[in-house]
Amino acid sequence: MAAVLSVRDLSVSFPTPRGPVRAVDALSFDVPRGRTLGIVGESGSGKSVTSLAVMGLHSGAEVTGSVTLDGRELVGLPERELNRLRGRRMAMIFQDPLSSLHPYYTVGEQIAEHHRVHYGSGRRAARERAVEALAEVGIPEPRRRAGEYPHQFSGGMRQRVMIAMALVCEPDLLIADEPTTALDVTVQAQILELLARIQEQRGLAVVMITHDLGVVARVAHDVLVMYGGRAAEQAPVDALFAAPAHPYTRGLLDSLPRLDDPDDLPLRAIPGSPPSLLSPAPGCAFAPRCPRAAAAPEEERARCEAERPVLHGPDGHPTACHFPAYEGVTP
Ligand SMILES: Nc1ncnc2c1ncn2[C@@H]1O[C@H](COP(=O)(O)OP(=O)(O)OP(=O)(O)O)[C@@H](O)[C@H]1O
Ligand code: SF4
Ligand SMILES: [Mg+2]
Repeated sequence: MAAVLSVRDLSVSFPTPRGPVRAVDALSFDVPRGRTLGIVGESGSGKSVTSLAVMGLHSGAEVTGSVTLDGRELVGLPERELNRLRGRRMAMIFQDPLSSLHPYYTVGEQIAEHHRVHYGSGRRAARERAVEALAEVGIPEPRRRAGEYPHQFSGGMRQRVMIAMALVCEPDLLIADEPTTALDVTVQAQILELLARIQEQRGLAVVMITHDLGVVARVAHDVLVMYGGRAAEQAPVDALFAAPAHPYTRGLLDSLPRLDDPDDLPLRAIPGSPPSLLSPAPGCAFAPRCPRAAAAPEEERARCEAERPVLHGPDGHPTACHFPAYEGVTP
């Protein structure tokens, strides 16, 4: 299946007074039509930097590698051409819809304007498309609500408006960066359901960015686990949940709350903190926090600390770990 989005060896560095911060390092992944890739990792692991690099939204950063959309290279494309592709061929929704909506214009005007800019449609036709788009994302009385302002919508309804805005130009690729993090659990479930339905109906390629494996389990077909700006593990969602090969993925799964947990159980987290991106240690970035390395014999632990693991393993399920646990077998 030809990928809508294809990313190869993507690296993003930010110059800072203390030296370059390498936020994303040699990342590769594909998203075919009709599939959702979940990108998951802790805060600071490079998820948003990756999505902004795909959209061509980094200024002042050094971006290397290749990003193709339907076979067309985006890295190095002039801003004017990128602008044309953004919105029309690829769209993005963020955690906080208020920051992307203008307070002084009605939501209908904003969605219609978006359509007009990209399609050159007339005022009336664009307005009709906006009402249709609001109906499609489940906003009741869409014609009346199109005439209201962003502050008159609840958080969940605002996120629906953002989805309508992203989809009104019928893009091939949708990137959603933590779209439900700010919402309460019930509304979160409704928005995820909506995204999954639209993705399936339209055959969209979707990148769903989240720190929450529960979200991944609901919507993703494939998963990329990021740690310290790099891929730790990539796999189809079922394989990842059934047999996580990387100790970090294992830790993320173990930190998911379980149904039989008592209500007062504190949230489990992976002990330790994320690695420095400014002066990364030579070995595996996860080594200081890794329970597998801690329990390993001395010479194995020395390898973890000295040699950076590269992605390897079975087709479709590579892991960047010297001692991965394939088929649930811990070495
Ligand atoms: N403009 C910038 N200049 C310097 N460093 C940056 C810049 N933007 C991001 N970074 C750094 O890149 C790293 C990755 O950031 P990113 O926003 O991608 O994390 P994230 O995985 O999206 O985290 P979160 O879950 O908190 O949203 C962080 O350490 C961040 O401080
Ligand atoms: S390479 Fe070593 S430290 Fe890194 S994740 Fe694997 S076992 Fe842990
Ligand atoms: Mg982020």
